[in-house]
Amino acid sequence: MRRRQIYEGKAKIIYEGPEPGTVVQYFKDDATAFNNQKKGTITGKGVLNNRISEYLMTRLESIGIPTHFVRRLNMREQLVREVEIVPIEVVVRNIAAGTLVKRLGLEEGARLPRSIVEYYYKNDELGDPLVSEEHITAFGWANTQDLDEMLQYALRINDFLCGLFLGVGLKLVDFKLEFGRLWEDEEMRIVLADEISPDSCRIWDVATDKKLDKDRFRRDLGEVEEAYQEVARRLGVLPEAGPIDIKGPRLMQ
Ligand SMILES: Nc1ncnc2c1ncn2[C@@H]1O[C@H](COP(=O)(O)OP(=O)(O)OP(=O)(O)O)[C@@H](O)[C@H]1O
Ligand SMILES: [Mg+2]
Repeated sequence: MRRRQIYEGKAKIIYEGPEPGTVVQYFKDDATAFNNQKKGTITGKGVLNNRISEYLMTRLESIGIPTHFVRRLNMREQLVREVEIVPIEVVVRNIAAGTLVKRLGLEEGARLPRSIVEYYYKNDELGDPLVSEEHITAFGWANTQDLDEMLQYALRINDFLCGLFLGVGLKLVDFKLEFGRLWEDEEMRIVLADEISPDSCRIWDVATDKKLDKDRFRRDLGEVEEAYQEVARRLGVLPEAGPIDIKGPRLMQ
């Protein structure tokens, strides 16, 4: 079936959905880092992120967080409600890592005094700059009410995911969320959109602090595929047939 492609991003392709108001997210194996300067592929990543994001969004729905997720369609695709993406990335941090370490001269791995929420303006040309609530409301990227709703959801999501990950021996160091506006008969709702996966989270093993996320790719730490598989395995969503399954169909010669 030929479908209209709406958008091709760095990690996913968005296609027109089968019903109005829906789109299909296709998860690629492509990986980028440092604002697109580093490019590569992580074999099987798309399949695993599709499963991991499905699982986490479904669990979040069950505690009353509205999300765009409708259903998984196949190994690499999921049906989601089409939203107008709020051009703000909401980052929640529990442990010092990444740009926070550089910006404030902290030690990587230090437990933060409390969870810290940051906002970044989604703009590739500018390299997704850190912005404050003042910038967001002054430039109209989101209003105070939307922003407050996003903040409250982000904190609830953090509490829930920290517990869920800890239950399987994983530390949720930090993560990025995207929200969107969903219109239902004249009413607008803010819902969680995009994905939650080892591409958008920092996840460490509780016992060893081993990194099990995209930092293995960013920093050339090796065992990148294995890290994504390990997260999927611990969450109980590794496809049955394992790594063979996730390489997808192979042409028979
Ligand atoms: N439910 C949704 N409806 C519409 N767009 C969505 C939805 N969920 C996610 N998106 C958007 O679809 C795109 C997914 O592609 P991908 O994650 O590969 O983009 P990206 O390379 O990170 O680029 P971007 O800077 O646009 O996020 C993103 O732009 C994301 O904001
Ligand atoms: Mg993205």
